[in-house]
Amino acid sequence: MRLRIRQPARSTKRGLAHRRGLLGEDPQEVSAGGGTRVPEQWHRGSDAYAGLRQSLRVLAPHGGQSEREQRDAARPHGADPPEGSAISRRLPDEIAILRNATECNNLVAQGIDLKAGDEVLIGYLEHDSNRQPWLMKAKRQGIVVKEVAIGTPPSSPDEILRAFETAITPRTRAIATTHCDTVIGAYAPIKELAKLAKAKGLPCFADGAQVPGMIPVNVHDLGVDTYATTCHKWLCSPAGTGLLYVRREMQERIWPNIVTEAWWSQKDARKYEAVSRRPWPVVAALEDAIDFQNAVGRDRIEYRIRALNTYFRGRAAEIPHVKLYTSNDPRLSGAMTSLGMDNVSPLKLREYLRQRFDVYTAERAKGVKYPADPHGVDGIRISLHYYNTSSRSSGCYKACVSFRAAKRS
Ligand SMILES: Cc1ncc(COP(=O)(O)O)c(C=O)c1O
Repeated sequence: MRLRIRQPARSTKRGLAHRRGLLGEDPQEVSAGGGTRVPEQWHRGSDAYAGLRQSLRVLAPHGGQSEREQRDAARPHGADPPEGSAISRRLPDEIAILRNATECNNLVAQGIDLKAGDEVLIGYLEHDSNRQPWLMKAKRQGIVVKEVAIGTPPSSPDEILRAFETAITPRTRAIATTHCDTVIGAYAPIKELAKLAKAKGLPCFADGAQVPGMIPVNVHDLGVDTYATTCHKWLCSPAGTGLLYVRREMQERIWPNIVTEAWWSQKDARKYEAVSRRPWPVVAALEDAIDFQNAVGRDRIEYRIRALNTYFRGRAAEIPHVKLYTSNDPRLSGAMTSLGMDNVSPLKLREYLRQRFDVYTAERAKGVKYPADPHGVDGIRISLHYYNTSSRSSGCYKACVSFRAAKRS
């Protein structure tokens, strides 16, 4: 199948497409349709998201399932699943549609009961939306938050796994970490971390804000207890929706933090959605965004982002004085590259790329956001999604070369 991806509807700057790790623009197919469509049943109440919930298999796609499992996944809600297929069928009852990953991460941290002295392990390059909620819990309830350091870049998935394993003590009560961090775009071996947590009797809470839409995700296969994500990044939906997967058994332990009339009657993840009225068109657009990427193909998207980004990283590594903070090992990286240059302010580099080459990036300056960073990340982050062309990938490389040459002269 050949699909032509049109330019984002409102895109005046081609370069905005390099900022997906922050916020990009959406395909016309999404912004034109979903932005105005409000399904009738949403005015009537009950399970307003019934149709959309089926699309949420973006977090545990049919890929890899037998045909029987796929047929079963489409069976009406409430019917007994045949042996072997319960996992896929229960997914819609395990996902809450919230506003963004920040809300999802906060819900988990605030919703789990812990007491003074209990320890929670988080990653050292965690986004603040998965750091501050735990630090606030430390202030309010006296828990202890331990930040586990890894190399920039880590040398292997095993390095990350061992760092967490070593940090576990008899007082550890949870591992709450990112699947792909926001600073250097490093993938954590989240499946192995969930296995480690399980072996130690701990829950594993994952922040996947930077993953769905970039590479295929199957939360059941990962074995995590919760998985938070956002839809305005790699899923290319308008800002305003986030998904929180909460494994059925974990729903007993995580309290909702916004409640209203009869919230207790909700027996599944819908209890986390009691936010009263909300901007429905934005939620409708999510369904279109997911359908659109499904039509393109999740494996094809992954293939393409790997081709574009591996090429860029490989070439960037050849530029003198460039330091890559992101590994080119496919187990440790995806569609984001963080790089810096010796004695160069990331802000200067960012502005040069934007003004001269229309390449928009996010900077990661040392001391600005991560003052405790012992390794030092002092650079910019470039994101190349599946709709970027190969000439844009090589264009990013040429833009960096041009900056280097301009600096020498
Ligand atoms: C790893 C990670 N977690 C959480 C977030 C917060 O996402 P949101 O904007 O949906 O709240 C981000 C945003 O960049 C992120 O990169």
